[in-house]
Amino acid sequence: MSPTPSNPPFVLARPESAPLDPPPLYAELREEQPVTRVSLWEGRLSPWLVTRWEDARAVLGSPAFSTDPTHPGAPNFKEGSARSPRGFFQNYDDPIHAAMRRTLTREFMVKRINELRPAIARLTDELLTDMTELSGPVDLVEHFSLPLPSLVICELLGVPYEDHTFFQKHSKTIVDFNSTGEETQQAFAALAAYLLGLVETKRTTPGDDVVTRLAAQADEGAITDQDAADLSAFLLFAGHETTANMITLSTITLLSHPGQIPHLLGGPDQVANAVEELLRHLSIVHGGLRRTAVEDVTIGGVTIRAGEGVIVPVHVANRDPEFFDAPDDLDLDRANARLHLAFGYGIHQCLGQPLARAELQIVLPEIFRRLPALKIAVPLEEIAFKQDTAVYGVHELPVTW
Ligand code: HEM
Repeated sequence: MSPTPSNPPFVLARPESAPLDPPPLYAELREEQPVTRVSLWEGRLSPWLVTRWEDARAVLGSPAFSTDPTHPGAPNFKEGSARSPRGFFQNYDDPIHAAMRRTLTREFMVKRINELRPAIARLTDELLTDMTELSGPVDLVEHFSLPLPSLVICELLGVPYEDHTFFQKHSKTIVDFNSTGEETQQAFAALAAYLLGLVETKRTTPGDDVVTRLAAQADEGAITDQDAADLSAFLLFAGHETTANMITLSTITLLSHPGQIPHLLGGPDQVANAVEELLRHLSIVHGGLRRTAVEDVTIGGVTIRAGEGVIVPVHVANRDPEFFDAPDDLDLDRANARLHLAFGYGIHQCLGQPLARAELQIVLPEIFRRLPALKIAVPLEEIAFKQDTAVYGVHELPVTW
């Protein structure tokens, strides 16, 4: 792929004046060149950027694309990405991807996740009670948005919550663009080593949890102990920052659209739709879903050759006016909100989405029910957004109530 200096760089930073919207350049590209080349790594790679909703779905649903980051043309965030263990199955194609994902599908079935709802409600209540006992301003990220999904994922996996600072630190390193390749590898390795110990512990002291059941699958020979540890590490990592950032950014968004808050306090269907619209509107996985073509394929009338990289920025595709009416508006009653691509699409579609949905559906109404006078304690311009991470969010959010 020949680098062309005129290709626009693929950047993450959202506009300072509208930090919850995608960079305006991508709306222009979606209009004028919906499948176009962009430059990565200071022009050393020129993958395709696919910005329309329909084309984005076509890429994500097609077996002509691979998520394996070791393809020479793979549009990785950093040059020279190393192979990850197969327990991080998002980076593998079928059949390895399917075999690894299958070990966890039962754990994330809607029915099983619904059984966790009372525990999520209890944890939400406890954290909000503890937070409101402090005198404001208080950082919502530290006291609520991050500990809530951490506690939930710890409960699901059977990880002792006392260890949460350890794995929060490593998750942060993994999603931080400023981490070196070596730091990222070390963070993965540290999480996996910790969990390998936990797999062993669960054999002697089993619980009703995912790590215990993965240890049992290893005993049956379906996977190795290392796989069980890597799969758990992947879940810890995938289930943390994402939901935490969604809670905080949804809170900021709702506070700037106060007229829509009553939708969140309605019945379960209304709340569910409101959460889908927030997922669409914010599309926090804004680093783009990254693929490499393994055969020649035509997308939006453009031929993408085998070996060429493709970036699918779901935050841009989810604002496509061809598919969503007035896409930049937040409309918690939007009829087709649930067709967003914020959880991806196709075989790699987010495995944890029933859990993320359950958490958001419980947490967001509860925040506004309990704290009707909630306010951000500083002007929006003073909030530090995570401009250089694959998953969008804020570093902290001081609030009063
Ligand atoms: C609001 C929160 C979340 C968002 C927006 C989100 C988003 C995504 C997206 C966009 C993908 C697809 C990546 C791709 O196609 O390249 C994905 C995959 C995945 N997510 Fe999530 N996620 C969230 C929460 C969670 C949670 C809570 C868990 C688990 C506890 C989780 C586990 C996973 C896993 C295991 C995959 C890989 C699926 C595969 O490759 O088959 N996610 N997520």
